[in-house]
Amino acid sequence: MQRIGVLTSGGDAPGMNAAVRAVTRQALNLDLEVMGISRGYSGFIKGEISELKDKDVSGKINRGGTFLFTARSEKFKNAEGQEEAIFQLKNYGIEALVIIGGDGSLQGAMALERQGIPTVGVPASIDNDLSGTDYSIGFDTAVNTVVEAVDKIRDTATSHERVFVIETMGRNNGLLTLESGLAVGAEAILIPEIEFDIEEVCGIVRKGYESGKSHNLIMVAEGIKDCCLDQSKKQEKHYSAAFQIGEIITENTGFEVRIIVLGHVQRGGSPSALDRVTASKLGSKAVEVIKSGGRGVMVGINQDKIVTVDYDVILEQEKQIDESLYNLAKILG
Ligand code: ADP
Ligand code: F6P
Repeated sequence: MQRIGVLTSGGDAPGMNAAVRAVTRQALNLDLEVMGISRGYSGFIKGEISELKDKDVSGKINRGGTFLFTARSEKFKNAEGQEEAIFQLKNYGIEALVIIGGDGSLQGAMALERQGIPTVGVPASIDNDLSGTDYSIGFDTAVNTVVEAVDKIRDTATSHERVFVIETMGRNNGLLTLESGLAVGAEAILIPEIEFDIEEVCGIVRKGYESGKSHNLIMVAEGIKDCCLDQSKKQEKHYSAAFQIGEIITENTGFEVRIIVLGHVQRGGSPSALDRVTASKLGSKAVEVIKSGGRGVMVGINQDKIVTVDYDVILEQEKQIDESLYNLAKILG
């Protein structure tokens, strides 16, 4: 093995740069050349590939986003796109790939494996929705970003004695919402994994004010719009979980409600120390696995240990929510 490639794909996550840095420096340490592929699978297909040297990853560990850029590529999901990418691999003499990204990106890595290309995945997604690892790079930074924002919202909520419905990211899951909701002391947390009764939420708001609370913070995962809310509203331009929940709370309780959709601010910012350290460990481990002939695995964290997980395991299992955390947040909020 002489030359490997690295790319970042899907939603960017703080710590992706630290992971690319680790891949590059560990590869150089193990006498491997590294090719950086720009713009995820989209740039891969087009051959946007150039060599990464030691200095190219200098000054990157503290930077959010991804200096390799990222993208989503519909074309790569089909055989034609994958064949074009494989042609580029051969063209550039790349023998194995490190793929840094979330759930979708690792599906792409698995597709390449099925076509005979050696790949190792590194989980990076603020959604933290990959099974087989307790943790994905970027999650900790995103939780802290949400907490910082909601702490500010709480000040104004308290001053005006208002209800705030705050929507956080999480395409299909509520991990970010749950963890940050617990951290800010939210009065209610609504996530796709756990069915909720909107009447109960309205009751929490009423009781909160009756018992002397001066605000009510309701945390809502964006993903609930696809499982728990009025599907006919999906056609509307600004279809949002928080707006629907907010409307119902206003109608049912009469209290003043404000809506915040935190949006992409959650994906940005300098990575936390935890994300930098995790990215350094996982990026480095991915290269060690490749160097020793490993493939078809994701590197991940299991009970604070670095592990390798077969792609099959990731496919078979769905990431589970920690219900005890949800129940704790309910008691404490
Ligand atoms: P994330 O990795 O953050 O979950 P996406 O779900 O958008 O982001 O996936 C990123 C990219 O991975 C997609 O745009 C597509 O190119 C590729 N991808 C996703 N699913 C598959 C699949 N089943 N087969 C091949 N490629 C896929
Ligand atoms: O996958 C991460 C994520 O941030 C999801 O939480 C969110 O649904 C999605 O990406 C937003 O994607 P886009 O970059 O296309 O707006």
